[in-house]
Parts: sequence; C-alpha cells; structure tokens
Amino acid sequence: MAPTSSDKTAPTGRLAGRTALVTGGGKGMGAATVRLLAAEGAHVVALDIDGAAARSVAHDLGPGVLAREIDVTNQARWAEVAHEAEQRFGGIDVLVNNAGIADPALLENLDGTRLQRTVDINLVGVFNGIQAVVPAMKKNAAGGSIVNIGSVGAFQGVPRMSGYVAAKWGVRGLTKAAALELGAHHIRVNAVHPGQTRTPMTHGVVFDTSAVALGRVGEPEDIAQAVLFFASDQSRFITGSDLVVDGGQLAGQADYSGLPD
Ligand SMILES: NC(=O)c1ccc[n+]([C@@H]2O[C@H](COP(=O)([O-])OP(=O)(O)OC[C@H]3O[C@@H](n4cnc5c(N)ncnc54)[C@H](O)[C@@H]3O)[C@@H](O)[C@H]2O)c1
Repeated sequence: MAPTSSDKTAPTGRLAGRTALVTGGGKGMGAATVRLLAAEGAHVVALDIDGAAARSVAHDLGPGVLAREIDVTNQARWAEVAHEAEQRFGGIDVLVNNAGIADPALLENLDGTRLQRTVDINLVGVFNGIQAVVPAMKKNAAGGSIVNIGSVGAFQGVPRMSGYVAAKWGVRGLTKAAALELGAHHIRVNAVHPGQTRTPMTHGVVFDTSAVALGRVGEPEDIAQAVLFFASDQSRFITGSDLVVDGGQLAGQADYSGLPD
C-alpha cells in the first residue's frame, strides 16, 4: 500500500515520540548516542559543557534535536534544561548520564581540587541529572528510563585513576539505589559500563587490546547500541542492572602501565 502523507510524517523507530536528554552529547559516545536515539525517532537534547560541540552534533539532525550548554555539576542549570525540554517536547522519557572526565594521576599527585572536580562531574553530575528529570518522568504513565555511563573501572581498581574509579563505583551504587526508589513509578535505572573506547577522552592513549577477547577497541557506536537497548522498551523488565560493553576486557587482565604519572 502506498504511504499516505500522514505516514510520511509519523515518527518511526524504537523511540518514536519519546524525548531523551543526553549529557556529554557533543563528543565521543555521547554524540554517537544522540545520533542513534534521534535515528530511532526520539526528540533529543544534547547537553554539554562544550556548547559548540553539542550544536555541531545537533546541526545535522533537524529540529527534533536541540543543543544546550550545561555543566552537569550546576543544579540550577539542570532545572532550566529539564523545564525547557518538558515544555518543548511535552515530557521527558529518557536520560543518559554520559558526561565524564578522566584525570589520571598517581594518588599522591591528585590534589583535592582535581579529585573534587572528578567526583563532582562523574558522580554528583549523575545524581543531579536524576533529580532534575524525575519530576517530569513521574508524570508519564509509562515512567521513564535513566541510563548511567559507568566504566569497567567500576568493577576493578585501576592505578593512576583512583578518583575516577571511586566515582564510577559510586555510579554503580547510585544506579541500584535509584532503581529501588523509582521502580514504583515505572522509572528504570541501569548502567552501561564501557571498556576502552576510541573517543576524544582516549585520544593519545596507546590501547592494549591483547586482553580484549574480541581483539579490538570499542567504538562510540558500540556503546550507543547498549544505551538504546536500555532506553527502549526492549529492556522493559530490567532495572538496577549493569551491562558491561568492553569486548571481553573485564573477562581478562588489562595492562594500564601506559598511563601518565
Ligand atoms: N572512552 C573510554 O574508553 C571510556 C571507558 C569507560 C568509560 N567511559 C565513560 O564514558 C563517558 C563518555 O566518555 P567519552 O569517552 O565519550 O568522553 P569524551 O571526553 O570524548 O566526551 C565527554 C563529553 O562530556 C563533556 N563534559 C565534560 N565535562 C562536562 C560537564 N561538567 N558538564 C557537561 N558536559 C561535560 C565533554 O565536553 C565531552 O563532550 C564518560 O562518562 C567516561 O567516563 C569512557
């Protein structure tokens, strides 16, 4: 049967009609996630401290994708962007807490300011995002889905990454506590844990794939696919869960000796 004019405009895809907020949406796996969720029919707000990067991702994706600047540590700004997304698109269904920084250093060289910044962005920023969207998600009969990006460093220790690892283990715990509190509102909270992935964050890192079962580094799109799974109804009975997306890295023994002191 030939498509009608309404068929042409009807949203299609696994996230048709949904609205998603993606932090760190300007680069790396956040940018890949913005593109994939938009391709699956979602309205997306790409949030990034680097507003120009977010705008350049949104630019090619049409009016259903907005770019907004935010530092995820700023609760007042979170309230503004959540309010705007709700007004503009009629609700919030998905939050992807992806923004993060890596600041490698030996434990004794990591001063308090650097440690605090890592914890504030990588852990408190996730908390801020959840707090900001839950009131909107509670209004949805179908609830919502929150996807937190952790790391394989949330399952092990990594030398020269003590602040980062502490924050990422925190993200795992926060994911489970939030899942328990929010389940009654049909809001699911899960974590995706990437292994070594080729993004601006790892630019210049000499990857060791000898301990990766699949024998390669991850690409941002590999991570985005796992995020889509949690964002969509395909994972409708999964909450408080961890999904490791690392090509089998955690199954073996990685060598981190190449990190700077
Ligand atoms: N790349 C990897 O190998 C790897 C491995 C495990 C986990 N991760 C995690 O995946 C997530 C994405 O990493 P990536 O590799 O795509 O990083 P990236 O550096 O390429 O991109 C991160 C994005 O977050 C933004 N950002 C940084 N601080 C912010 C803040 N305060 N507020 C808002 N936005 C901010 C940056 O501007 C950037 O656009 C991070 O949480 C990271 O810890 C990455």
